Parts: sequence; C-alpha cells; structure tokens
Amino acid sequence: MKKLFAAAVALVALSGAAYADTIKIGVIGPFSGPFALQGKNFKAGIDAWFALNGNKVGSDEIQIVYRDVPQADPARSKALAQELVVREGVQYLAGFYFTPDAMAATALLQQGNVPMVVMNAATSAIITSSPLVVRTSFTTWQTTTPIAKVAKEQGVTKAITLVSDYGPGIDAENAFKAAFEKEGGKVVETIRMPLSTNDFAPLMQRVKDSGAEGLFTFLPSGPPTLAFVKAYNDNGLKTRGVKFYATGDLTQESDLPALGDAALGLQTTYHYAVSHDSPENKTFVAAAEKAIGNPTELSFPAVGAFDGMYVISKMIEATGGKQDAKKAVEAVKGLSWTSPRGPVSIDPDSRHITENIYLREVSKDANGKYYNKEVRTFEKQGDPGLGFVKK
Ligand code: PHB
Repeated sequence: MKKLFAAAVALVALSGAAYADTIKIGVIGPFSGPFALQGKNFKAGIDAWFALNGNKVGSDEIQIVYRDVPQADPARSKALAQELVVREGVQYLAGFYFTPDAMAATALLQQGNVPMVVMNAATSAIITSSPLVVRTSFTTWQTTTPIAKVAKEQGVTKAITLVSDYGPGIDAENAFKAAFEKEGGKVVETIRMPLSTNDFAPLMQRVKDSGAEGLFTFLPSGPPTLAFVKAYNDNGLKTRGVKFYATGDLTQESDLPALGDAALGLQTTYHYAVSHDSPENKTFVAAAEKAIGNPTELSFPAVGAFDGMYVISKMIEATGGKQDAKKAVEAVKGLSWTSPRGPVSIDPDSRHITENIYLREVSKDANGKYYNKEVRTFEKQGDPGLGFVKK
C-alpha cells in the first residue's frame, strides 16, 4: 500500500507540468449531516477570500476540491486525503473541522509532499504530529485558559468541568483545571461526555449534586452545543446561581437566535466574534455574509478558512507555485498580519497561530439581534497546551 502510494505520488509529480498553472487545494470538512453548517462556513470563508483577493496568485490559478466528512471519522478523512493527493494532485490539504480527521491525515503529508493548513481542529497535539502542519484556528488550551481566570476573579472557588470525551475536550479539561487551580480554585468533579451525546439533562443533576458554584464546558460547535446550553437553562442551573463558563464554541453566532433571551449574559472566551469591531472585520463579514447567503448562519469556521487561504497564498507565492511542502511551511513561519479577528502571527516554533482571546457576553443590540459582545482582551495568546504535549 505504502509503495503504491509512493509510486502514485511520483507519477503525479512527473505529470505536474500538465497543470502547473492550476494549483489545487483539497478541503476536507463536514458539508452534509448535523455539522453541515460548519462546513458551509469553511466554504463561505474561502469564497470571501476569493471575492476580496481574486483566485490567482501570480499567474497561478487556485482551484478548491471539497471532500465531505460529515462527522468525526478518521478513516474516511485519511482515505479522502489520500485520494485528493494521489488522484486529484492537490498541492495543499486544508479544512479539518474535527481533530480526529486532521490527525489521521497528517500521516500522509511527508510522503505526499503536501502541507496541511488546519482551519478549525483545536487539539494542541495536531501540530506536533507533522512538521508540515500550520494552524489558523485556535486550540482549546488557548481559548480555555482565560475563562478559568475570569471564573476565579468572579468569586467562583469550586468548579465542575463537562467536556466532550475526545482530544479538544480533554485539552480543555486539563487547561481549565491547570489555570483555575493555579489561581487558588478547586475543580471538584470532571465529567467527560461521549461525542455522540445530545441529551444533557441527566448531567445537570450531577452538576447540582457536585456543589460547584460554576461549571465550565467545551463541546464541538453544532447540535451538541445548542442542546447543552438549552439543558443548562431548562434544568434550573441558572436560577440556582450555578455560573456558566465556556469557550466560544458554546455560543456561536448561528446558534444565538435559537437560544434567544435564555442565552443573554453567557460568558465565553474565544478568538473571534462576528461582531468584532475593526475595518478588516467589516470587510470580511460583508464578503462572507454574501458568500453564505443567510447572514445569521455566519460563524467562526469562516475566519479560520479565510486566514487559512491567506497563509496558503503566501505559501504559493514563496514556492512560485511549485510543489515544495517544506519550503512552503518555512515561508510562513513568523508571518504576521491583521486578521478579521485582530492581530495574529504564525509562531515560528510551533506553527500555531498567536492571537488575542476575547472575553465576550451574549447581548442583544438595538435591532433585537443577539451577538457576542467583546468586553475584555487577553492579548497575543500562544498555545499553553504545547507544554503539555508529549514530544
Ligand atoms: C475539534 O474537533 O478539534 C473541534 C471541533 C469543533 C469545535 C472545536 C474543536 O468547535
């Protein structure tokens, strides 16, 4: 199998001249099923990039080849990534909403001579599994650490954590515990929830029984996050005064209309709010809203994809359109720019994005529209999780 893959890659390289002026980027994400809206946001971010920058870098034309992995499914992701590299001849792999899907495809990069630009998946260890990975999203260590400090500052001394039982959830649990206990708080219970669970009512009883004054949660944005916030409200935790703390995955903008007034005041920390007040974000949002069609559907994966396209365009520039994964990745180490989310840079050592993390509160504007109001900035956050990743 390995030999066959190598032979096919060599063939693709030999025949490279045939499509030297079209550079293909393979984008893997959830484009159907319960998480389809997240994939739609990848596409909106990419289309917004094309609308604002054109589809050419120098004389090379960029073409996106999309592949659908509806739920976390590493075997399917790896098979599709291989098909993209060998049969489609893509020079870049990008997208990856779920961590297991990104992890599985990293095994192909070296031999395929293909860089991977992770536009969402948020487990710290992804970046260490291949030197050819660059990430333009966030990690849950990065987004969780500040909210743990906020919880302690707001008088919570005993907390309970509830996370999805897979990479980014376990990272979030570790991050919350490390930061909260460093500040002098105590995590009294840690609950890991199966990735497939959408019924959280029984867990809310455990939260009540734990005696915690605040809960922290992470789940992947989509149907589970909507269901979790509803369960928090419907099971009387809010009225009991159990405070809610989470990463911004729990209050993505596209979920807010369905949550309604019940979401008002929820505090989260995250790298991007659609309402972020900057000229760069206004330009981006206008283009991305047009691309997605229905503005209320716009959410954070769009910005990871938009910035991912910027990074890939710089890689294409640096390699003159030739397939050279190592050179491409070297070229973006230390790259800094103003993203719609604020100032960012690619850390030259980790290849992960350094960015501001904002504390936000769900609010309602004068037109009755719900949004994540940024109220505080934690500047230039790297990934604290990298210290925890076994090399
Ligand atoms: C992930 O699987 O890494 C992931 C998915 C959805 C999120 C965050 C992280 O909202």
